[in-house]
Amino acid sequence: MVTRPLPGWPLPAVIAHRCGGALTPENTLAGMRLAARLGLAAVEFDVMLSADGTPWLIHDETLDRTTDGCGPVSAASDAVLSRLDAGRHFHPAWRGEGLPTLTEAAALCRRLGLRANVEIKPAAGFEAATGATVARQVLDCWRGDHLPLVSSFSGVALEAARAVAPDLPLGCLWTRPPADWRTRLDALAAATLHCDATQVDDALLAAARAAGVPVLCYTVNDVAHGRALFQRGVAAVFSDRIDRLPDGFA
Ligand code: G3P
Ligand code: MG
Repeated sequence: MVTRPLPGWPLPAVIAHRCGGALTPENTLAGMRLAARLGLAAVEFDVMLSADGTPWLIHDETLDRTTDGCGPVSAASDAVLSRLDAGRHFHPAWRGEGLPTLTEAAALCRRLGLRANVEIKPAAGFEAATGATVARQVLDCWRGDHLPLVSSFSGVALEAARAVAPDLPLGCLWTRPPADWRTRLDALAAATLHCDATQVDDALLAAARAAGVPVLCYTVNDVAHGRALFQRGVAAVFSDRIDRLPDGFA
C-alpha cells in the first residue's frame, strides 16, 4: 500500500496563487499579508535557488520580469538578491518590496497563521539540488508546526525532496496529467495532484476521487469557473484574484 501523507490541515477551497499575484507583487511578503487580511487560509509560492544555493521566492528563471535586476536567478548571489526591488515593476506604490527568502516567507506564514503550498521551481539543471534543499529547509522552518504541501512540475525535484523528507506532503504538478499519473504519485507517495484548470477532465476527476487523491487546479480568477470546478469535484483552486474568490466561496 502506498502511504500518502497529506498536510495535517484541511485543504482550503481557495489558495492564493503566487500569494495573490493580481493584487500585490507576486511571491512577496506583501502578498501574504494581504491574503491573510482577506481571510485566505493558504498561499502558494514558487521557490528557486540562488547562486549560493539559498531558496528565494521567485517564479521566472530570470530576474527581469518581476524585479529591477536582470539575468538568471541561479547566477545571482544572495547579496545581490537581497538588494532587489520586487515591487515597483508591479506598481510604483510597491517600490521597496523585497524578494523574500523561503526562511522569511515561512516565518511570516507561521506568524499570520497561513498554510502554504511551496512550489519547487528549479532552474534548468538544478532540479535535484533545489528539491533536496527546499525539502530540508521546509522541515527546518516549519519544525513543530503542520508542514506545508510541497509540489513541483519537476519529477526529479520531487524525488530529491522525498529522499530527504520521507514524511513531507508532496503534490505532483502537471499542465495536463499524464495517463500514468497514479503510478507517478504512488512512486513518490505523493498526496495531491495539481494541474491546469483548463486541462482537467471528468474521467480524471472520477479516477482521482476513487483513489482518494485531491485535485487542485490553477489558475482560476473567475467566480463562475471556480464554482463549476468545485461542482465537478475539484478540491481546491489557485487564484490571483483572492478579492473575487474569497476563502469559503465554494
Ligand atoms: O502551483 C500551481 C501553479 O503555481 C503552477 O503554475 O507557473 O504559476 O507556478 P505557475
Ligand atoms: Mg507556482
